[in-house]
Amino acid sequence: MAGTRYALTGKVAFITGGTSGINLAIAERFGREGMQVAVLSRSQDKVDSAVERLKSIGANAIGFAADVRDYDALEAAMAETATSLGPIDALIAGAAGNFLCPAEDLSPNGFKAVIDIDLLGTFYAARAAFQHMTKPGASVLAISAGQSLVPIPNQIHANAAKAGVNMVIQTLANEWGVHGIRANVLIPGPIEGTEGIRRLVPDEAAKRHVTASIPLGRFGETGEVADLAAFLVSDAAAYITGAVIPCDGGALLTRARLSPVKS
Ligand code: NAP
Ligand code: COA
Repeated sequence: MAGTRYALTGKVAFITGGTSGINLAIAERFGREGMQVAVLSRSQDKVDSAVERLKSIGANAIGFAADVRDYDALEAAMAETATSLGPIDALIAGAAGNFLCPAEDLSPNGFKAVIDIDLLGTFYAARAAFQHMTKPGASVLAISAGQSLVPIPNQIHANAAKAGVNMVIQTLANEWGVHGIRANVLIPGPIEGTEGIRRLVPDEAAKRHVTASIPLGRFGETGEVADLAAFLVSDAAAYITGAVIPCDGGALLTRARLSPVKS
């Protein structure tokens, strides 16, 4: 799919967490396709630098420094996006937090923080976007993770949060089909050079272990996930909704169990 174009020119995307890693690669891919892109994350510096980068590739881009746990801030950002760029064609719910911690050491607030960002943040974003998704072909795409389907030790918070994300999206697919809105889940596998991998696969031994468990024998690239995202929000995917689609080199088929963080 690399290099394939999906007739996205002029459409409007709103991407939570779109200022780094996989989500920024999606923003860039959309921008190169001629989409107008709004990105949102907490750090003003990251927002400024992402908007600058998107503008440097010719995209019409705006950004918001806000927390997806703040529903009112999301509503305000979506409203400003609709006013400045037009109704939202594609919402990418990509903001997330994760870290390694055994369940017995995880504080209640540590569990809550990740549930709030990933799960509440996904529902909040979709709920706030709904009123602006008025054009034919609009869709929601959540960036989930393999642990939504198969639990990984030391990530009870993300396992639960991402499983909830899948269910939120499938419920929306069911409810919002009547409004002409599709909703899908994209499951990236281990993606090279990302914050997620820095946190969850922190050393060479863990990386070798994960690589050996991937049928295609390598980590993925951010651009490979972005290619699938571009397809899924386009009219080429007009009959795809409620789907949970991995882009993971087959990793879900074997799913490496990483060593516990405690010896
Ligand atoms: P990343 O660069 O850290 O992306 C996370 C983004 O979310 C950042 O832009 C961050 O920016 C934003 N964010 C975090 N908390 C937020 C909050 N409360 N409100 C608003 N924005 C917030 O990590 P990544 O590894 O590329 O992950 C991107 C997505 O892919 C995540 O959904 C992750 O679960 C998923 N994923 C990644 C991998 C992988 O291999 N990396 C594998 C499977 C799934 P700020 O710090 O500025 O808020
Ligand atoms: N191990 C165990 N607990 C941790 C932790 C870790 N590595 N990091 C944070 N926590 C706990 C904190 O101790 C706190 O609990 P407490 O109040 O009982 O002490 C709770 O989590 C919230 O921490 P805080 O730093 O206040 O949260 P935050 O809302 O500022 O940040 C995180 C959210 C914790 C998810 C942070 O790691 C983050 O911002 N991540 C975004 C980037 C990211 O994770 N990218 C990869 C995506 S896959």
